[in-house]
Amino acid sequence: MRRTVEPELMDDEEQARAYASADFSASDTAFVEAFQARFGAALAASDAPIADLGCGPGNIALRLAHALPQRRIVAVDGAEAMLALGRERARTEGRDNVDFVRATLPSDALPPAHFGAIVSNSLLHHLHDPSVLWRTVAHIGRPGAPVYVGDLRRPPTPEAARAIVARYAGDAPPLLQEDYLASLHAAFEPAEVASQLAAAGLGGLAVEAVADRYLLVVGRLPG
Ligand SMILES: C[S@@+](CC[C@H](N)C(=O)[O-])C[C@H]1O[C@@H](n2cnc3c(N)ncnc32)[C@H](O)[C@@H]1O
Repeated sequence: MRRTVEPELMDDEEQARAYASADFSASDTAFVEAFQARFGAALAASDAPIADLGCGPGNIALRLAHALPQRRIVAVDGAEAMLALGRERARTEGRDNVDFVRATLPSDALPPAHFGAIVSNSLLHHLHDPSVLWRTVAHIGRPGAPVYVGDLRRPPTPEAARAIVARYAGDAPPLLQEDYLASLHAAFEPAEVASQLAAAGLGGLAVEAVADRYLLVVGRLPG
């Protein structure tokens, strides 16, 4: 099936609230635990801030802030509706090591060679031009910084996409189901992501297909 893009920013308040109230806790917790398991030694050896690109309402950023209380987490999104929810959650949870920063990628607001690790979950499929993410990663990360990027992967047919929505979000509100289907249509195949990485000079990062609907880009920046 061919890729169909969806809007980049999720800056509608109702959409942001629906996303924030959905329960992604199992996959979000697994994401953070797997990132730590993969890069525990590297994370312990650095005190540089960690960037979460396309942070939404902070599902990943706040878990990271909790898991790594000595580290500064810079959570970046272009949608103020999402950032407001993230800041409110940080206040409620008492997390003072996470900053929610508004920036729409590509952006000059993020300092070059600054971050000791970069994570991103479910941003890539939103980008009309995916090279924006890889250029940003290469630009803002320190040499050798761990990179951990998760996303959906595009199913082979519209029927397969609908089946995934029915299986994993059949009980979700209609707005979330529509968003999910649109996201599956906007996602990339692993081979496409491998080409994107090679074009960005990040061919050393590995692309892995995970379970029936995810992909993972993992590795370290050239150093
Ligand atoms: C599906 S949400 C993922 C949120 C979060 N990472 C998570 O795992 O729950 C994608 C987020 O990427 C943001 N986004 C999309 N395009 C962006 C861009 N060009 N620059 C910054 N943020 C962007 C959207 O506003 C949205 O909050």
